[in-house]
This record gives sequence, C-alpha cells and structure tokens, in this order.
Amino acid sequence: MKNDVNIGVIGIGSIAETSHIPNLKAAVGVRLAAVADVDLDRAREISQKYEVPQFFTTAEEMFEKSQLDAVMICTPNGTHIPIAMKAADKRIHVFMEKPIGTDLKEVEKYLRFAKDKNVLTMVGMPHRFRRDAQILKAYASKGTFGNVYYVKAKLFRRRGTPKGWFTNKALAGGGALMDIGVHVLDLAWWLIGKPEARSITGKTVTGLGNYETNYVSSWESSNKQLNSARVFDVDDFGAAWIRFRNGVVLSLETAWAVNGEQDEGIEIEIFGDKGGAVLSPLSIFSEEEGLLSKHHPVFEKNEPFKDEIGHFIHCIRTGSSPLIDGEDGYEVLKLLMGIYESSNLGKEICFN
Ligand SMILES: NC(=O)c1ccc[n+]([C@@H]2O[C@H](COP(=O)([O-])OP(=O)(O)OC[C@H]3O[C@@H](n4cnc5c(N)ncnc54)[C@H](O)[C@@H]3O)[C@@H](O)[C@H]2O)c1
Repeated sequence: MKNDVNIGVIGIGSIAETSHIPNLKAAVGVRLAAVADVDLDRAREISQKYEVPQFFTTAEEMFEKSQLDAVMICTPNGTHIPIAMKAADKRIHVFMEKPIGTDLKEVEKYLRFAKDKNVLTMVGMPHRFRRDAQILKAYASKGTFGNVYYVKAKLFRRRGTPKGWFTNKALAGGGALMDIGVHVLDLAWWLIGKPEARSITGKTVTGLGNYETNYVSSWESSNKQLNSARVFDVDDFGAAWIRFRNGVVLSLETAWAVNGEQDEGIEIEIFGDKGGAVLSPLSIFSEEEGLLSKHHPVFEKNEPFKDEIGHFIHCIRTGSSPLIDGEDGYEVLKLLMGIYESSNLGKEICFN
C-alpha cells in the first residue's frame, strides 16, 4: 500500500479549478505536485494560487521533470487520448475527464497500450458517485425491478450551451451529446447492468446554434483563445433509441438548448415487471402486500466529485479497478458514435 500519491493535473481550466484542484488539495496522503496548461500565464497563476510546486506548458515537460504517480487530464475532449498515451508511456496512472476521447480507434489503441504498461485508466463520471444513484444501483443489482424492459434517460437545458471550444467539433468531437449526453447515457447504462447494444436509432440536430439570450449563464471555457472564431458545427440536441441484446430498450434525450422545460438534473426512469424507479428525487415503485407502493429512500447527500477523486486515489493505492474504467468509457463512446452515425445515415444502425 502506497502512502503519498504524487498527482499532476493537465488542463487547469474551469473544471480543474472548481473540482480537481480543491479536492486534491484537501485529500489526505496526496501531493498535488504539478500543473500544466498550454496557457503559461494560467499555469503560473494557478500554481501560485494553490501552492503547487511545479508548473509547465506541456504534458511532455511535466512527465519529464516531475515525479508523478498519476495524472488527471482536464483538457478539451480531443486531446485526452494523445496526452493519456504519453502518460501511459511513462507508466503514470490516468484519470481523464469525460468523454474518454473522440475517436474509437484512438481509444482502442490507448486501452491496449495502457494495459501493456500496467497503467490504471479511469474516466470522470461523477453521477455514478451520487448517493441516490448508488442506492438505485443497489436496488437494481439485487433484482428489485424484476425483468427490466424499458429505461428513459433525459437531460434538457432550456438554454445552457457552453461557451468556448465545446461548440467546435475539431476540439470537442461533438456537441450536447458528447458533453452532457455522455453523463446521462453512462448513468442509465450502468444502472441497468451495462448491457451490450444491438442497434441504435439516433437523431442529432443543431437546433438553435449560436444564440444571444439575456439573463442566462452557462458553463464557459477558461481559455478564450481556443475557439475565438466561435465555430459552431456541433449538435445542441440529441435523441436515441438503443436496443440491447438482453431485450432492454433505452430512450435517450439530451439538449444544451431547447424550446421546452428546463430539467433540474438528469432524469432516469426504470421500468421492470416487478418494480420501477425514478431518479430524481429517488422513488421506488413496487407492489407490497397486494398494494401499490411508492417510497423515497432517506439518505444524506454526498459530494460526488470529492468521492470520485477519492476513489481514483484509492485505486492507485490498492491497485483495484476503478468503478468507471477505460473499457466503460469506450463502450459509452461507441454508443454515442452510433447515435451520430444513425443520425447521419437517417436510419437504424446495427452492431455485429
Ligand atoms: N465531469 C464533469 O461534470 C465535467 C464538467 C465540465 C467539464 N468536464 C470535462 O473537462 C474537460 C475540460 O473542460 P473545462 O470546462 O475545464 O474546459 P476549459 O477550456 O475551461 O479548460 C481546459 C484547459 O485545458 C487547457 N488546454 C487545452 N489544450 C491543452 C493541451 N494540449 N495541453 C495542456 N493544456 C491544454 C486550456 O488552456 C484550458 O485551461 C473537458 O473534457 C470536459 O468535457 C467535465
């Protein structure tokens, strides 16, 4: 068992500053040893603000000059895998933000390489660490819902298109589906036991595109240069019907911006022949003593990001497998790519 874990963070933008850096600084037995960002001023500023001993502008320099056990990659989606390859080459364990990457072939190559190098690969999926989601998973795993046949998973923002590189396909790999659809799909797919897909019918649309609406704030990249031309060539709406080999059908709906109600958060509904569930608020539907019942488990909320990072550190220390390993990240990316492909072709696609 290792005690002090030396970690570096690459891409110290919005999510790294709000989540990864404070959680790493607060974690016991962890040393945030270095940060790296293409923006040198930002790297310097963050290293001073959070008292990080070293800062760099490239991953290569960081891996060369800093003694790291692990790295957390928080850069734009298209750069995750190229950086992760360099880390794995140095036998540095990898946590990458979602989605795992933007290209399936690239991800396959990385997963083989990481395995050869005995490097741990975890993908950031904080919703799996939510207390309500974990309680729901426990119900599902012990068969409470019987034969599950249908799952609905949805997240609509009325207006919530992020600003920056997120809308540029070359940097992000896709739009709302890749950015928030990945959370919704991963959570639903995990809750129903990660079944294998048989076919997908998908539709993605650039519905509203660039818009100017007052009184709306949305997530914003900290790097104003990355998409300064404000390229918008991605979807802001995506929907799909996924049929799994075990007979379950999953309906997915996601939007950065839509002319309809705003959802408070991810909405999931599970329907089985013995019971069902809604998230959130977490509700369990069943029949007891010949009566219909609906109950709301009582629990204390947790801090999913903190627990996610704590889990990564635990996996490094113990050598155990992460709750969301690279294989899961790959499977979810395969489903997302299937939705785009089906939408482009205008028909259902089938997996062999
Ligand atoms: N888990 C979540 O809920 C969640 C939430 C937000 C963002 N994210 C993910 O986190 C990642 C970063 O998102 P963000 O909102 O922080 O974006 P951001 O643009 O604010 O931060 C990215 C940072 O990476 C830097 N960068 C770009 N290319 C680089 C490179 N090659 N090497 C080093 N640094 C580089 C940029 O200068 C910037 O500071 C994305 O993959 C996004 O999908 C996850």
